[in-house]
Amino acid sequence: MIDQLKQHISEVEKFSSDNLEAIEAFRIQYLGKKGILNHFFAEFKNVPNDQKKEFGQVVNQLKNAATDKVNSLKELLENSVLETGIYGDLTRPGEPIELGARHPISIVKNQIIDIFSRIGFNVSEGPEIEDDWHNFTALNLPEYHPARDMQDTFFVQTNPDILLRTHTSSVQVRYMENNKPPIRTISPGRVYRNEAISARSHCFFHQVEGLYIDKNVSFADLKQTLQFFTTELFGKSKIRLRPSYFPFTEPSAEVDVYWGLETETDYKMTKGTGWLEIMGCGMVDPNVLKNCGIDPNEYSGFAFGMGIDRIALLLHQISDIRLLSENDIRFLEQFKSSF
Ligand code: DAH
Repeated sequence: MIDQLKQHISEVEKFSSDNLEAIEAFRIQYLGKKGILNHFFAEFKNVPNDQKKEFGQVVNQLKNAATDKVNSLKELLENSVLETGIYGDLTRPGEPIELGARHPISIVKNQIIDIFSRIGFNVSEGPEIEDDWHNFTALNLPEYHPARDMQDTFFVQTNPDILLRTHTSSVQVRYMENNKPPIRTISPGRVYRNEAISARSHCFFHQVEGLYIDKNVSFADLKQTLQFFTTELFGKSKIRLRPSYFPFTEPSAEVDVYWGLETETDYKMTKGTGWLEIMGCGMVDPNVLKNCGIDPNEYSGFAFGMGIDRIALLLHQISDIRLLSENDIRFLEQFKSSF
């Protein structure tokens, strides 16, 4: 029996595995209830007295050898799982993850939102598929009004009442219909016009509409607000308002910012004048207020609208508006920005 025991001890010492199930099977084989060790413990009573001492020692040797073996194999296995685990080898050098860039339209849109939010404007949005009322009629452009021709409209199917909005002024109407003054909101979004695509114009582009309605709002408030905006966005505080016409505002104006004539690009961009036209604006026509359920005797307000694409071209010196919708990764990658 002693020989058998020694045989087992040498087998235990030889055993090795990196498989948890095999190690467990080994443990049960030796140390389990019906395992080899218990078998020998049960034999103890049959061992002649003079051999009991030696027998006991060798059985204990086997027990210790088996226990140590199981523990050390399990420990080895756990350590290797920690190292490679489900994440692979955590000590390998990392591969850099490519950071994406925001689209220049989004960058400029976010800059504009940021500037106006600092003076209390919230952000509102409306649908791109609009009805005639919100895009035209409520804005003082009744059917057959000649100003409708200024905006070549895409109609949805053949229904003349459903169209792709031609400007974000439609959101003004929706906002006034659903909110009571005081109102301070800007509405960024995509607009559509049936125009030939070229380096300077596209059949879809982006606008931000601004609307401010309260008691005693004046043209001076409009001018101050716009001057704050151009100073923040372009770093240019010199602006001028040229009389213009929009059906939804009275009086109406076109806003120019003085860009300067320092470089050759300034000359080219401003056609030698130093001035750049950046948006349309005006005092909201009392008729429009009435159409939207706001009493023009109690409230007045101003509105403005600008093209985001044009501003993005200006700020980033991009020469062709088509680049903004081609999704060329080499172009887009250049606009890594925090906005
Ligand atoms: N909706 C005009 C356009 O698309 C831009 C505009 C002009 C909006 C004057 C306004 C405004 O709110 O007051 O050309």
